[in-house]
Amino acid sequence: MAEIGLRSISKSFGSTEVIKSLDLSVSNGEFITIVGPSGCGKSTLLRIIAGLENQSTGDVEIDGNVVNKTRASERDLAMVFQSYALYPHLTVQQNLMVPLKLRRLSFLERFPIIGWFMPNRSSKLDEIVSKVQAASETLQITHLLDRKPGQLSGGQQQRVAVGRAMVREPVAFLMDEPLSNLDAGLRVHMRAEISELHRDLKTTFIYVTHDQAEALTMSDRMAVMMDGEILQLDTPHEIYNNPSTIRVAEFVGSPKINILKGECDEKGNLNCFGTKITDSIKLAQKGNVSVGIRPEHMQLVSSKDKNVIKGKIVYRENLGSDIFLHLTVNEGEQKIIVRSEPSNVINTAVGDQVMIGWDEQKVMAFDVDGENITMQ
Ligand SMILES: Nc1ncnc2c1ncn2[C@@H]1O[C@H](COP(=O)(O)OP(=O)(O)OP(=O)(O)O)[C@@H](O)[C@H]1O
Ligand SMILES: [Mg+2]
Repeated sequence: MAEIGLRSISKSFGSTEVIKSLDLSVSNGEFITIVGPSGCGKSTLLRIIAGLENQSTGDVEIDGNVVNKTRASERDLAMVFQSYALYPHLTVQQNLMVPLKLRRLSFLERFPIIGWFMPNRSSKLDEIVSKVQAASETLQITHLLDRKPGQLSGGQQQRVAVGRAMVREPVAFLMDEPLSNLDAGLRVHMRAEISELHRDLKTTFIYVTHDQAEALTMSDRMAVMMDGEILQLDTPHEIYNNPSTIRVAEFVGSPKINILKGECDEKGNLNCFGTKITDSIKLAQKGNVSVGIRPEHMQLVSSKDKNVIKGKIVYRENLGSDIFLHLTVNEGEQKIIVRSEPSNVINTAVGDQVMIGWDEQKVMAFDVDGENITMQ
């Protein structure tokens, strides 16, 4: 287990700064995800932690020691890549043995023929085989040990890649989108397996993904990264319910949060299209705001309800367990998505004029700079 610290890390490729004075502290045994859109600098950051890339400025610390000058192989971290990077000509067992042989056997012990006569080689090999066996059992791949990577499914290859990282008993795992090559079903299954592995091993995990659902489901804390900066670092619950900015609010959640044009009147009330949105928040400053309401916090209501917005259904997206109703409001000027249980919207059809209500407690407001002004 290890504590990992990034202190004012920046990285430029030529004149382009891709990481901008970034700080991050990961605690012992924590599962942290770094999540953000493609190109925001996630892999670069992970490679800097691993020692595969040099930062332009700043320090990487492992357990309080600055490791800027420590080579990747000596940082005791294990990295799992999106591409798995298995050796295609070696069996699963041999793939799993490679990192241990490199570490445990001396140069001469690894040498063919000469190595066979080295006195400690056989006991070291026995130890390596038993570690490989233990990792294979944890990952349930013992039946695959004699196969080559080409004879494995994507999920099985991914497990071998994790196994190869595991046998090294690293102080932390660094994972760069390890599930992105898998189909949707397997990805969900492997998410649970990696979380379980973390619970078993209790090692520090830094997990990079562009998939917000993955980050929300797996992490103790998630760092939302955009344009080389961490916008917010918090628990998935806080990030989802109290996003610090409109960019974070829009990045997490599927379907995306509804953002409506609103204004705050002189009494501090929040209004959209002339309708008062909530009694539960009063804002300090008068002026334009953006109002955020998540699709699951809106519903179709009868016209008798007090605060409603009129809308027209333009599309019904049926997911089986949920129906996403796509609506236009304010004469078609704005779009809203309402997430409903199918039984609640069974009698609706495209073209219907409906009334939309919302959960007043869940409304968020963002100022013109995109800062959340309703955070509790
Ligand atoms: N070796 C390099 N030389 C020049 N630019 C680079 C290099 N590596 C990365 N970049 C640039 O740095 C930025 C961040 O890249 P990075 O691979 O870290 O993004 P990412 O967040 O991992 O994206 P993705 O989700 O697509 O993997 C990108 O604009 C990329 O083009
Ligand atoms: Mg990447």
